[in-house]
Amino acid sequence: MDAIRIYGGKCLEGQTRIQGSKNASLPILAATLLINGTCEIENCPDISDVYHMQRLLESLGCRVDRDGPVVRVDTACLSKCDMPSDSVCVMRSSIMLLGALLARTGSVTMEYPGGCVIGARPIDLHLRSLRRMGVVIEERENGFSAAVLRLKGAVHRLPFVSVGVTENLLLAAVLAEGVTVIEPAAREPEIQALCEFLSRAGAKIKGVGTDRLVICGVESLKPVRYRVPADRIVAGTYLCACMCTGGRVFLREAPVGHMESVLSHAVMMGAAISYEPDGILVTGREHESRCHKLTTRCYPGFPTDLQSPFMVVMALSGQPGCIQETVFENRFRIVSELYKMGADIRIRGNTAYICGGTRLHGAIVQAAELRGGAALVAASLAAEGTSIVANRHFIDRGYEDIVTALRELGADVELA
Ligand code: EPZ
Repeated sequence: MDAIRIYGGKCLEGQTRIQGSKNASLPILAATLLINGTCEIENCPDISDVYHMQRLLESLGCRVDRDGPVVRVDTACLSKCDMPSDSVCVMRSSIMLLGALLARTGSVTMEYPGGCVIGARPIDLHLRSLRRMGVVIEERENGFSAAVLRLKGAVHRLPFVSVGVTENLLLAAVLAEGVTVIEPAAREPEIQALCEFLSRAGAKIKGVGTDRLVICGVESLKPVRYRVPADRIVAGTYLCACMCTGGRVFLREAPVGHMESVLSHAVMMGAAISYEPDGILVTGREHESRCHKLTTRCYPGFPTDLQSPFMVVMALSGQPGCIQETVFENRFRIVSELYKMGADIRIRGNTAYICGGTRLHGAIVQAAELRGGAALVAASLAAEGTSIVANRHFIDRGYEDIVTALRELGADVELA
């Protein structure tokens, strides 16, 4: 079965190493298309989204191999520019190959990447922005063809902050003719990692870490070896699991500098955090939490990807709380599953109102997307009795071997 069986009620104790960042690895793997030669990406997480990106690069004619945590990509034999529809549908973040492929080959044909349960996730802003750089895009019913002789720098004043659009425009701009401005640019740590990778390869990017990026196009980039930073969302997920069970866990290599908002909310909700040279020690329920309101924002605000795990922490805390989701239009899917476990959560518009002090009980629940699935695992760890979290494949998209990691922390958990 594609599920996880959890016998809840045990405190998590011990230490776990935080994997490399999924959302930094994917755009950096896409960026290798800009470089004629072999790049080595270190600390690349062994997760299915990275696996699908590797397959996509191979389908374009690249040679890709993994040596433990290092993924090598040789694009010298890049031969195609049509992305296979099955891979595009499986992983919507294939859209971030668009900018790089246009810069390298001048032509791309692909189907529209699907939305997912958290939202429609359109690509209108991607396409509108690339048209401003000279790309001719012909849209059809279920896909589009894009072509350009050479991308031209442009000033992009975006209507809202988009991580994916910032990434696509960065990849389109670094080899374009002239100067490109992206404003407001997303400031996520994953964008900063992508800028570091590109700058190390010879790109000229100013404003890294700010909401205004200025890129001067260059003629070519050179192969580099780059280490992906640790995954702040995975670290936050294990932090929540520790808070849900009242345990004490050392998160080795947790990217503390990228987690300020997450850690401050965790402390307000009862956790104790002590900072060590190579990670953080989390004590799950050091003190009573205060009544809590949480609003998701783009970085450095509270990340939408940890909204669901924190909802579980709120349900178990002694105080009522509420969560406002401002990034995606449908990111409360786990509420109906938490209801099966005894949670009392009401939704009004983009806000969920959580009654604290809940004692969750085991149930059979369905993961419907990556972070909601991880949140259901955290809830099952705290629930009394046995739970089954079905559709484990969603969780495997972003978490390296979550069952082994939790078992090493003392959880009674197994594949089912
Ligand atoms: C990235 O998605 C991440 N994915 C998401 O993580 C993350 O939740 C999101 O950024 C926000 O931080 C990866 O990095 C692979 P957006 P992305 O463009 O780029 C709307 C996870 O769990 N929009 O910043 O798709 C969009 O619908 C995933 O790891 C348009 O309307 O997010 C959303 O409402 C989930 N038109 C908002 O912008 C467009 O053309 C922000 O989305 C593009 C986006």
